[in-house]
Amino acid sequence: MSEQLAIEQLDITDWVKNLAAIPDRSFTLETVQDYILHHAIRPESLEKYLFFSKGSYTRNLIFKNGMFECMAICWEVGQFSRIHNHRDQNCWMSAPIGRLKVQNFRVEQHDATKSTCDLTPTDIYEMDARHPAYVNPLEPVHQVLNLPEFKQRAVSIHVYSKPFDMCEVYYRDKGTYADVPLHYTSEYGKLHPDEKLL
Ligand SMILES: [Fe+2]
Repeated sequence: MSEQLAIEQLDITDWVKNLAAIPDRSFTLETVQDYILHHAIRPESLEKYLFFSKGSYTRNLIFKNGMFECMAICWEVGQFSRIHNHRDQNCWMSAPIGRLKVQNFRVEQHDATKSTCDLTPTDIYEMDARHPAYVNPLEPVHQVLNLPEFKQRAVSIHVYSKPFDMCEVYYRDKGTYADVPLHYTSEYGKLHPDEKLL
């Protein structure tokens, strides 16, 4: 991202309200990416949505409508996602707090009859408050990592359009993949009653 870019800082409520005002037909990869590039989120406005757990990163729903969902993912130092896809949906990400590494993968082979796959690591990049990102629809399999050497917690904001509640998770060591249901740790600032934060 260019250093000259004019970036407006917004509270998360206004940031999401602007996204929700984009007409469905205009909710494209380019339009939303342009919005995210020009509008940063004030970290302090995220406070009520942030739940950290030593057990795993947490998924915290901020907003959802028929077109998209927006969530805050909270990463303790050293936590990382599994390698996953996005169900052919668009995904934009930014990291208002901390830094995150994103590793993309190319699917070389994918056999639905045996649930086997073969992945090759491709691009690797870093996200922080000034460097948002989007998932390349042509290479949508990736892993997000808060590396131990970053030595700080991170919070990333994810916009998924349209919302999805299952994804494929890839196990490179076994050469297999599986459908995995997704759940929210908290919704609209309220911790899920069954959730035990460690
Ligand atoms: Fe992802």
